[in-house]
Amino acid sequence: MRAMRRLKPDPVPDELIHKILAAGQAAASGGNTQRWRFLVLKDAAKKKAVQVYYKKAFDEVVGPRYASSPPPPGSDPARYKRQHAAVEYLTDHYHEAPVWIVACLEDGANPGRTAGSSIYPAVQNMLLAARALGLGSTLTTRHTQYEKEVDAAMGIPPGYHSYAILPIGYPMGRFGPVGRGPLSEVVYLDNWGKPYPGLK
Ligand SMILES: Cc1cc2nc3c(=O)[nH]c(=O)nc-3n(C[C@H](O)[C@H](O)[C@H](O)COP(=O)(O)O)c2cc1C
Repeated sequence: MRAMRRLKPDPVPDELIHKILAAGQAAASGGNTQRWRFLVLKDAAKKKAVQVYYKKAFDEVVGPRYASSPPPPGSDPARYKRQHAAVEYLTDHYHEAPVWIVACLEDGANPGRTAGSSIYPAVQNMLLAARALGLGSTLTTRHTQYEKEVDAAMGIPPGYHSYAILPIGYPMGRFGPVGRGPLSEVVYLDNWGKPYPGLK
């Protein structure tokens, strides 16, 4: 899976969106509770209303952070710069993706460390399904920095929250390889820090 942030505004057939949603619903959830709701958003005014906050959060937090942080593992300054440009592009064109799937979850008893763990498997399933169908998307959560405002703009009722927005469309470019650091730097055997010799 690779983030695909440059999307064509061309419409996406409903039967493809159906397949993506079915993949989402096939995901695991704690206790098989399935407290998810998937809001398919095509409404231009609602998407634009959310984009305004998505951009605000970029200008206030994300942009400055990208500008001052080092490239992540497996990246380099040039590649990181291209990532930043793509993030900025999606920020400006977020609402132009023809379809959004907004992954929502009913509020649970536990707002702690596992909050979200019953919705993100569905999100990843949908991202993989989109990719398999030749569609581009990216897991986005930045809108949650203004969660009250954006959830109201999307008409999400009390008792539910949006956890991710997947802007979906046909990709402008190709799906390249992902950039990650060496696996050996993040895997241990038995004791924290001890190398796992099973890695080639
Ligand atoms: C929890 C989470 C939140 C994310 N939120 C955003 C977002 O709001 N906007 C965005 O452009 N990308 C977002 N991403 C995508 C990451 O930036 C992306 O996975 C990362 O840059 C690696 O990209 P790659 O998979 O193409 O290598 C998010 C990813 C995760 C896991």
